[in-house]
Amino acid sequence: MSSVDKDVSQTPTAPLQRWQWLRPMLPKRLQPYLRGLRKRTQWRRWTRLSEPFRTIFPYTQVNTTRQRNLFRLSEIIEHEQIPGAIVECGVLDGGAAALMACVTASSGRAVHLFDAWEGLPQATPQDGEHAASWTGEVVGSPARVAAVMRKLSIEPWRIMIHRGWFNETFPITNIPQIALLHIDADFYEPTKLCLDRWYPHISPGGFVQIDDYDSFAGCRMAVDEFLAGHPELTLQNFGEVPLARACYFRKP
Ligand SMILES: C[S@@+](CC[C@H](N)C(=O)[O-])C[C@H]1O[C@@H](n2cnc3c(N)ncnc32)[C@H](O)[C@@H]1O
Repeated sequence: MSSVDKDVSQTPTAPLQRWQWLRPMLPKRLQPYLRGLRKRTQWRRWTRLSEPFRTIFPYTQVNTTRQRNLFRLSEIIEHEQIPGAIVECGVLDGGAAALMACVTASSGRAVHLFDAWEGLPQATPQDGEHAASWTGEVVGSPARVAAVMRKLSIEPWRIMIHRGWFNETFPITNIPQIALLHIDADFYEPTKLCLDRWYPHISPGGFVQIDDYDSFAGCRMAVDEFLAGHPELTLQNFGEVPLARACYFRKP
């Protein structure tokens, strides 16, 4: 584990969309199922995983290093009894959310899940040149979220679904204490909204993991701007592979 180094050569831009030409031909509601099928064809990678990573594999886009860090942070908040809920902003098919819910089963923490399930919102200039092509893409499915929660025997009363755009759902939701916040919303505006809205509610000793710090320019900008106003925080990383590592910070 080390502090995140500021290597400008690794500054991300929004990635190019693969299969962009094919996407308009596919009904959006099929996207989650095709994504799940495609992941199941990665048979060797999938079947070598231990539980609960194997069960969540077809239900998440989060890479395995970042999954392992979510697992580790979930264990720490359990072990140290850091009070508060699990919150994920950007849920898609629920794999990462199910992982955090599974590891924290013994404390029975509430799990709050925020997503519009309508694909990514409009990009802004901060998101870089390829970002606009992602708008409306990456459509998830609340039915698949329910399915992966069932597969891991997560008790339904723990799961609170907040469906809608963050700027609509955040102001009407009260979560007094948060132990672990996973931000996975790709773009500048939603990442900034998540940090501004939920950081004041993170318990001392609680964690924030940001999935796209090394993947999307706008996400990195939102995090860097936020950290510039919070000198008490140090961005840390987990994992050795540049651009695939997990980025997170802990509230003192
Ligand atoms: C990369 S996916 C999340 C991946 C997920 N955490 C997983 O385990 O695979 C990004 C999600 O963020 C959601 N999202 C992005 N911006 C949003 C916003 N402003 N309001 C609501 N949802 C948003 C999208 O709908 C999409 O489902």
